[in-house]
Amino acid sequence: MSSVAAAHWQEARNLRLAARLHAADPHPPSLGLAREGVLRRAVGLTLEASGCSAPLGSRCRVETAGGRWVDTEVVGFAGDRTYLMPTADLEGLLPNARVVPLRRRGEVAVGEGLLGRVIDSDGVPLDGRGPIRAEHWVGLAGTAINPLMREPITQSLDVGVRAINALLPIGRGQRIGLFAGSGVGKSTLLGMMTRFTAADVIVVGLIGERGREVRDFVESTLGEEGLRRAVVVATPADRPPLARLHGALRATAIAEYYRDQGLHVLLLMDSLTRFAHAQREIGLSVGEPPTTRGYPPSVFAKLPQLVERAGNGADGRGSITAFYTVLTEGDDQQEPIADAARAILDGHIVLTRRIADAGQYPAIDVEVSVSRVMQDITDPAWRERIRKLKRLMAAHSAQRDLIAIGAYQRGSDPAVDEAVARWPAIQAFLGQDVAEAADVEASRAALAALLDDGPAGVAPNRPQEA
Ligand SMILES: Nc1ncnc2c1ncn2[C@@H]1O[C@H](COP(=O)(O)OP(=O)(O)O)[C@@H](O)[C@H]1O
Ligand SMILES: [Mg+2]
Repeated sequence: MSSVAAAHWQEARNLRLAARLHAADPHPPSLGLAREGVLRRAVGLTLEASGCSAPLGSRCRVETAGGRWVDTEVVGFAGDRTYLMPTADLEGLLPNARVVPLRRRGEVAVGEGLLGRVIDSDGVPLDGRGPIRAEHWVGLAGTAINPLMREPITQSLDVGVRAINALLPIGRGQRIGLFAGSGVGKSTLLGMMTRFTAADVIVVGLIGERGREVRDFVESTLGEEGLRRAVVVATPADRPPLARLHGALRATAIAEYYRDQGLHVLLLMDSLTRFAHAQREIGLSVGEPPTTRGYPPSVFAKLPQLVERAGNGADGRGSITAFYTVLTEGDDQQEPIADAARAILDGHIVLTRRIADAGQYPAIDVEVSVSRVMQDITDPAWRERIRKLKRLMAAHSAQRDLIAIGAYQRGSDPAVDEAVARWPAIQAFLGQDVAEAADVEASRAALAALLDDGPAGVAPNRPQEA
């Protein structure tokens, strides 16, 4: 049996077991003040119950034909009506079915058994490697850390990628956006970081990707080596929006669990845009107005709620450094989700199609990428080199078209002359094979070597340094 067939079989078995458990529990535990209701309406993905009393965000089970129970979450109410959204498919739903509020809010099983595993948004294993031993429970929604109690970002984190380590240094506990269109190399870059980053645990949330991409990422990009210290939470595009939302929340909750053990966690979320799209589907289907270019307000409330959960713990209790991919189709950096993400993250790395099309990988556009914690984790000589390289690259881009057709006149501009002379070395410095790791020291040294000795015929513009 192939591993995918095994995973499907395993999932089906788990679902059957879950259904049997639900069936064996005719009266699921009810909430103190909650009252059972009756299903009145099911249109699209929204269910309406009447007579039901359950708090916003709590869970209800809806009975279906054949005695199976479908899990739903309360996403709104109006008068006597409670709006619910399912986390699984709605097959067998009947009019006037029982809607039973549950005592438990969303919880996530966590524990050592999670390492190396691939699970879905409900925590069901997708990898066919049997049940997961997870002995603790944490809240899906997490608990907020007082921002004043958080450890500040003071240590740099080795992500194994030279261009990032040297030019966009990442701090432990930083939240970074990875902005790019599709097919520009986001997943490949995340895969490199999964394998090379100096972290204790890596949690990967794959939200709203195609099913095939999930398999590709796990089997090829991550590989055995990457998976060993990773947990992957995968919720492909065909799952209901609430499941996709929960996938992101579950991945974050798992990262929080490890952080609270004092570990340094790398959280990779691919993608924040699909998380926003899931919330948009939910908001619109319960009647929120699409106020910002088709997005309802709840989307812009959920984004910071998710992102704020990453970061350093209180008083040295571990850290979550997080990368969130953001889709910028047609390189539209002003798209509302990209805009919102840029405002709430501590930096952004932009991958550009132009660079990828030229065969330069990772296709990081150094000129427009920013790490907002750079000041805190670099020394002046290092920052001066970064500025110098950016100046050279900007000078080169300004004359790119002329240089490309060989029409640039040497001697017109000393900065451009130097950029042209150093260009092959700069390209070699920025490029990196997916199998090659470059740690922070090596990356810094490579940057210094790149800039500190001038190529023949060019007077080097040496930085004053200590
Ligand atoms: N570092 C790299 N080296 C070589 N090719 C790459 C690299 N990164 C991406 N690619 C190429 O780009 C394609 C798309 O990359 P992928 O990471 O799947 O993009 P995205 O996740 O942004 O859609 C890959 O199939 C590969 O051909
Ligand atoms: Mg991808």
